Amino acid sequence: MDALHSAPSSVVRYAHLIAQAGSPVRPSLNLALGPDRVYSPPLGDLPLWTSHGYSTSRKVRTAFTSDKFATLGAALRLKSGARVLDLGSGSGEMLCTWARDHGIIGTGIDMSPLFTEQAKQRAEELGVAHQVRFIHDDAAGYVSDEKVDVAACVGATWIGGGVAGTIELLTRSLGTGGIILIGEPYWRQVPPTEEVAKGCLANAISDFLSLPELIASFGNLGYDVVEMVLANQDGWDRYEAAKWLTMRRWLEANPDDELAEEVRSKLVSEPERHATYTREYLGWGVFALMPRFCLKNA
Ligand SMILES: C[S@@+](CC[C@H](N)C(=O)[O-])C[C@H]1O[C@@H](n2cnc3c(N)ncnc32)[C@H](O)[C@@H]1O
Repeated sequence: MDALHSAPSSVVRYAHLIAQAGSPVRPSLNLALGPDRVYSPPLGDLPLWTSHGYSTSRKVRTAFTSDKFATLGAALRLKSGARVLDLGSGSGEMLCTWARDHGIIGTGIDMSPLFTEQAKQRAEELGVAHQVRFIHDDAAGYVSDEKVDVAACVGATWIGGGVAGTIELLTRSLGTGGIILIGEPYWRQVPPTEEVAKGCLANAISDFLSLPELIASFGNLGYDVVEMVLANQDGWDRYEAAKWLTMRRWLEANPDDELAEEVRSKLVSEPERHATYTREYLGWGVFALMPRFCLKNA
């Protein structure tokens, strides 16, 4: 039995939250990264990830909705048989739907056992289990044996220590002519004060770039941005507002729970916080990148 499983029940429950966390913003921003590189979810996620039956049936774990993944898949002009690697694959929606819709062959790595299991179930559900495999593991440092056509990290760039490190990591798996996908937040509107940034669950304004700055940063790293699909405010609503009814139902079912007061207070504050801050100021997008090459006559 490991340390977590011999710990008091509140710690075990917290560990479940940790293991199942999935936030579209870097853990360094709104999540505490622990010494052994596990991290805790924002409290707003809390009832979603408990071990008490309130994990949602949510398939996408960012502000990027399923229709945005469909748009992205079509935009990338994926060919049947294309190999796609996804670090931090969550519940596997991107790989499974692209396997169904475009015939891709996919590998997803995720450190959450729950999400990995959900991803495998989704593959069965869509009849693509022979095309995709999901590995429960830490994706930090993961390089595929076989070169891939698309190497992705959508909403988990802390895996490579930030955007630059993750691009570098993905490049090591990428075949010639391949595409890197990076899913990352940006400031939709740059917050006027640090307090507003904190209202978006960032530590500071400097945590994120504006969209033009983020795009320029990819260029500075030596990559062409060849496509992008951006989440919108409805996508944030699906990510944030989807928690509120879950919290309410959880409270009704668990009024005496040790976490009830905390969840109650979040249910009171979160809708207003979301409407005031995240919804207005934070953007989120997936950017398709290809390494720049020198033109003969340049
Ligand atoms: C915001 S979610 C995004 C999931 C998925 N890419 C999506 O778009 O729905 C981040 C995911 O990264 C996973 N994750 C976090 N750190 C990881 C690591 N070091 N190795 C593998 N997966 C990790 C989490 O379990 C979670 O599923």
